[in-house]
Amino acid sequence: MVSDRDIEHAVTVLRAGGLVAFPTETVYGLGADAGNPAAIRKIFETKGRPAAHPVIVHLADAVQLANWAREVPATAHMLARKFWPGPLTLILSRASGVSDVVTGGQDTVALRVPSHPLAQQLLARFGGGIAAPSANRHGRVSATTADHVRREFGAAVGCVLDGGEAGIGIESTIIDLSRGRATLLRPGWITAGEIEKTLGTPLAAPGADAPRAPGSLAAHYAPRTPLTLAEGDLALELAASFVRQGRRVAVLARSKERPMLKGLEWAAAAQDAAGYAHALYANLRRLDEAGCDAIIVERPPQTPEWAAINDRLARAATGSSAPDAT
Ligand code: TXA
Ligand code: MG
Repeated sequence: MVSDRDIEHAVTVLRAGGLVAFPTETVYGLGADAGNPAAIRKIFETKGRPAAHPVIVHLADAVQLANWAREVPATAHMLARKFWPGPLTLILSRASGVSDVVTGGQDTVALRVPSHPLAQQLLARFGGGIAAPSANRHGRVSATTADHVRREFGAAVGCVLDGGEAGIGIESTIIDLSRGRATLLRPGWITAGEIEKTLGTPLAAPGADAPRAPGSLAAHYAPRTPLTLAEGDLALELAASFVRQGRRVAVLARSKERPMLKGLEWAAAAQDAAGYAHALYANLRRLDEAGCDAIIVERPPQTPEWAAINDRLARAATGSSAPDAT
């Protein structure tokens, strides 16, 4: 249980320019005072993240938007009213005081009001913005428990607020509102359809001039074990052929029947998208730690409800085959 004193301590650490890992409803964040460039640089060092990658500023409420954004378009108010606090990040043109370290030198800033009660308490007590990327090493699988965070960073992050398992399990939906037509930069639990319904207009797909969002790099969210996506029966056949070659294989399965194969590591994923997303990163971490030669993921349905999950799985597959995505 996190006490008031723990929150107070976390606020002290933030004010002193230190790092605090905290739960949100999507994944854990690695936070620093968004008004302190030296503190934010520590996030980059700790994650091994390239300096040009911008970070999301978390706020206690939408009233604070005006401190960070130069202009707040009507579309931002519409989305904030409907989805905040919650798993939605808005990209707006930045206010003049916002540091280049936050924005990666771009003219825009990413803003989000999270709904997790601990994140809310921390933000309310801190008073300012908390810059926080997901609490994982760059390019790797995000953290959905305090234990994941501790194992990821060890002593490098002394203050970890433990809020149990992150409810949603995958990162926020990112919408760019800085350039006229609203654009989906990263799919998340709030679907493109829900955003379009709220705005009453279709979203644009990101073009070549869209702001850079490294979460949309082809290689991301990746385990160290090579990960392959395959359709139902094919996934199981592929696993069997690995085993016949004397190799150890891990399967993230949707099939309920576990085949009788030796040396098979098996994680049964939920049948519904919410349950699947909730456990996705914990499952990938567990299968990765099993030290197999391959992870095979049985491909989920290709419907809008599963879009964010399919996005993360595709990037995890690409990232795991890259020499080193960190
Ligand atoms: O659910 C989430 O969004 C979590 C929790 C902790 O809030 N945070 C998260 O942060 O996923 P991160 O840094 O892992 O991913 C944020 C994404 C990155 O792809 C980053 O490039 C993009 O947001 N981003 C941040 N600022 C941006 C900006 N000004 N323009 C375009 N993309 C931006
Ligand atoms: Mg991330």
